[in-house]
Amino acid sequence: MTPVSRVLVVSDDAPWQAEALNGLGAAAVRLENPYGLTFVGAAGATAALDIIARDGEVQLVLIDKQLREPGVAQPAAQLANAVSAFRPEISLYVVLFDDDERAMVEDMASHAVDGYFYRDESDFNGWFRILAAELAEKSATPFYDKLRQYVRMAKDSWHTPGHSGGDSLKGSPWVGDFYEFAGESLLRADLSVSVPMLDSLLHPTGVIAEAQALAAKAFGARETYFATNGTSTSNKVIFQTLLAPGDKLLLDRNCHKSVHHGVILSGALPVYLDSSINKQYGIFGPVPKATIFAAIEANPDARVLILTSCTYDGLRYDLGPIIEAAHEKGIKVIVDEAWYGFARFHPAFRPTALESGADYVTQSTHKVLSAFSQASMIHVNDPAFDAHLFRENFNMHASTSPQYSLIASLDVARKQAVMEGYRLLDRTLKLAQELRAKINSSGAFRVLELDDLLPAEVREDGIRLDPTKLTVDFTQSGFTADELQHALFERYNVQVEKSTFSTITLLLTIGTTRSKLSRLYDALLRLAKEKRPPRPLGRMPEIPRFTRLACLPRDAFYEAGERLPLLDDDGRPNAALAGRVCCDQIVPYPPGIPVLVPGQAIDDTILAYLARLQKTQKSIEMHGLAEDGGELYLRVLRQDELNSLPGRALFN
Ligand SMILES: Cc1ncc(COP(=O)(O)O)c(C=O)c1O
Repeated sequence: MTPVSRVLVVSDDAPWQAEALNGLGAAAVRLENPYGLTFVGAAGATAALDIIARDGEVQLVLIDKQLREPGVAQPAAQLANAVSAFRPEISLYVVLFDDDERAMVEDMASHAVDGYFYRDESDFNGWFRILAAELAEKSATPFYDKLRQYVRMAKDSWHTPGHSGGDSLKGSPWVGDFYEFAGESLLRADLSVSVPMLDSLLHPTGVIAEAQALAAKAFGARETYFATNGTSTSNKVIFQTLLAPGDKLLLDRNCHKSVHHGVILSGALPVYLDSSINKQYGIFGPVPKATIFAAIEANPDARVLILTSCTYDGLRYDLGPIIEAAHEKGIKVIVDEAWYGFARFHPAFRPTALESGADYVTQSTHKVLSAFSQASMIHVNDPAFDAHLFRENFNMHASTSPQYSLIASLDVARKQAVMEGYRLLDRTLKLAQELRAKINSSGAFRVLELDDLLPAEVREDGIRLDPTKLTVDFTQSGFTADELQHALFERYNVQVEKSTFSTITLLLTIGTTRSKLSRLYDALLRLAKEKRPPRPLGRMPEIPRFTRLACLPRDAFYEAGERLPLLDDDGRPNAALAGRVCCDQIVPYPPGIPVLVPGQAIDDTILAYLARLQKTQKSIEMHGLAEDGGELYLRVLRQDELNSLPGRALFN
């Protein structure tokens, strides 16, 4: 299928514009045109911006430097900047009379402009070739192409993996079905570092390096690294690069568990920032701006601040002022954009964390774009980036046998985001709006808006909602969370993203289709029509506030400790645990927020909370507690271990 690549020629000089459109159109017929270049005119900046907003197939813009606009000194440069701010993935060329004009444009919009043409040359065949070459470069998938090429070459494999391109499975009466299920291409493409032409993820100098460079350009980073172990590993790699044992780190306590694991691995000294909580819906919001600013002021010696934006529920920070405040104190900022990797490609979601000045950004490309599960990206904009140190840490965590299809999927996901991300995201936004309206008309279900989601303490913080993540309040439906999820799954073949005691979360992506949407709506409508009487819903008890650290998390984690039962013989919280120091990270899942981290002092409130969860919320997984004979145990430091910890004095 040939794509369509629209080229917008912006000029108010009608005769010249007609000549250019004719000349370029004729070249498109005469020459090879694999990208489907077609040419349309716009008479001025306003018309151009309007077309760019409406037409996701515009890939290139040619701006006539002679463009006039009342009251604007340099309309061409201003338009170039406006286009680049709106859709940075669009390539821009300026058509000049002479080199003086070029200097003027370069002064005002050099970052936005990809190249120049000169009117007096009017070599439309030549221009066409240059524009086609620009598209070829942007849409290239160097790693994926090489992988396909290698598979087609049908080389005999005398190397790993052991299934040898699927030959060990093929035709087997026992496992031949897996060959059919996985498919020949996926198995033939499962290769290893023994094939030099496919480059090495751990030391990229060839097609992987090229693919990463294209990703860096697309996402607006200085450097981009492909990770095949998810954002979980990506966060740990950055932590180990930036934080030495004892280095101070500011973090949202509500961060993903990989961040907490990174604290243990790096030996950092964490300062936890309590996130806001929406008690009505049991949803954790962002950390209040005032809390972040106060923490930055109080800890100018911190090396790193990490925040999650957007959150799982789609809440995103007003990052600019926060990053600025951190940078003023020399604090590096990492933003976990696991749920926001598409944001660069539609203005409704921007600014991205990188655009807001973040030094490091991690993205689960697999969560929200077309990459395979586990395929993530690390973007770097830190001016003081130590590439060698980063590489050492990256290689410490990465497998020496990465899955090549994951790398190819990152290459393809980036290409898709650049070439058609705007169009697909625009459609997703429209579908989200439509679904919102439909759900709200059901009578029993309601999509929560930003105002519903925001806890009071962050109302003035400039927080915004990603409209593709829908949190649906079902409290009026008469269903419990389990019943609703069960009914949707068993009766209507719908699997939702997650739930709380009063909400379900629906994730729309560029893969959401209209028919999927109508099936979901139909299901909710039928469930609403059951008109079950609303009933009181069990709530998750409120997560206790952080107590204090008695030592570095890493020190507590690496001690042997002793295991004490969570409950005493009478089923009450075990009083012997109060005042002790926890060795493990205790995370009830959902919601997945640590109630205790290694090194944290345990108090009565925490014990009561854990005991209550164990008794009343049987479906919750309690990560970090040891189980023996049906009883749960907490690993805590012995007093002698605590006394002999090297950094103990810091915490008294
Ligand atoms: C905020 C956040 N960060 C990081 C991760 C880990 O991402 P991955 O699944 O790519 O390892 C998740 C996963 O759910 C997450 O929610």
